[in-house]
Amino acid sequence: MNHTLLSSPLQGFTDYKFRNAFNKYFGGIDTFYSPYIKLNGKLEIKKAYERDLLPENNLNLEVIPQIITNDADEFLFVANYVKKLGYNELNWNLGCPYPMVTKRGMGSGLICDFIKIEQILQKVHEQSDIIVSMKMRMGYENSEEILNVLPVLEKFPLKNIAIHARIGKQLYKGGVDLDAFQRCIENTNHKLYYNGDITSVEKFKEMQQRFPSIDHWMIGRGLIANPFLPNMIKNNTSKFPINKIEIFSQFHETIFQEYEQSLSGATHILLKMTSFWAYFSTLFSNPHKTFKKIKKAKSLKNYHQAVKEILAQEH
Ligand SMILES: Cc1cc2nc3c(=O)[nH]c(=O)nc-3n(C[C@H](O)[C@H](O)[C@H](O)COP(=O)(O)O)c2cc1C
Repeated sequence: MNHTLLSSPLQGFTDYKFRNAFNKYFGGIDTFYSPYIKLNGKLEIKKAYERDLLPENNLNLEVIPQIITNDADEFLFVANYVKKLGYNELNWNLGCPYPMVTKRGMGSGLICDFIKIEQILQKVHEQSDIIVSMKMRMGYENSEEILNVLPVLEKFPLKNIAIHARIGKQLYKGGVDLDAFQRCIENTNHKLYYNGDITSVEKFKEMQQRFPSIDHWMIGRGLIANPFLPNMIKNNTSKFPINKIEIFSQFHETIFQEYEQSLSGATHILLKMTSFWAYFSTLFSNPHKTFKKIKKAKSLKNYHQAVKEILAQEH
């Protein structure tokens, strides 16, 4: 079977700078989802969202924009906006688990409201020809919630439904619920993509064996923790390339320079890079020590020294 690998959006990580550098040095991802666009009560697109989606910033990348909303007019506004930029698909986020979002009936907080979901999809399909796809969890309180939504989704020509096999209440804790994902497969005719905890080639193979009908796989955190993973999956190997550290080093240098240019001040740059290293550190033989070293660096000079030592040690 030909497997399609998709980069699951990670707000704060998978922006266009990351996507371009990732594609250049690692590859293996067929499609990138951009982190969600959220309008804060105004029909207005923030500059940062615009930069992230501009075609000239995404040359040679297959990108699908995403929205988080519980309002059909917002959906239509963003749909028109992304269409003007040349996109023909908008992905709808019904997965975000954070209380600030769910308490306002968005993200995974909207899954229980299948009537509203239907109303929004109805209006969007009546008034726009944008292709709609979904990315959702299986519920907020419990994984039965999605079973009420799936029949509603049957009424619409959705491109696909990507399911992160957790519920909102879990945040990112606890395991994925593969039995509940199996129930989703049995209760929809839509094309499902699997998402959740694909962190190694072995994990991928386990999922593939468990769900032989699935051929689209979304990888989120696993991609930052091991950027070689998509290509390793595609080449069916658990072995890293021999020049692993050189490749990582060049990739790191590229994103560092990008963020150094766009962020103001050492504190912001260090914060950004440290959040990456929370994941990157697992690529190295002593992840705990590696991350500690990065966290200890309180100046750019010390940061560079720390990175140099980490990379040299790994050689
Ligand atoms: C820091 C962070 C930011 C995220 N931002 C988004 C987002 O903007 N849109 C979205 O659909 N999911 C977002 N997610 C969820 C991931 O895309 C993904 O569904 C989830 O992490 C499970 O997949 P994984 O186990 O492969 O990481 C985010 C997750 C994290 C940890």
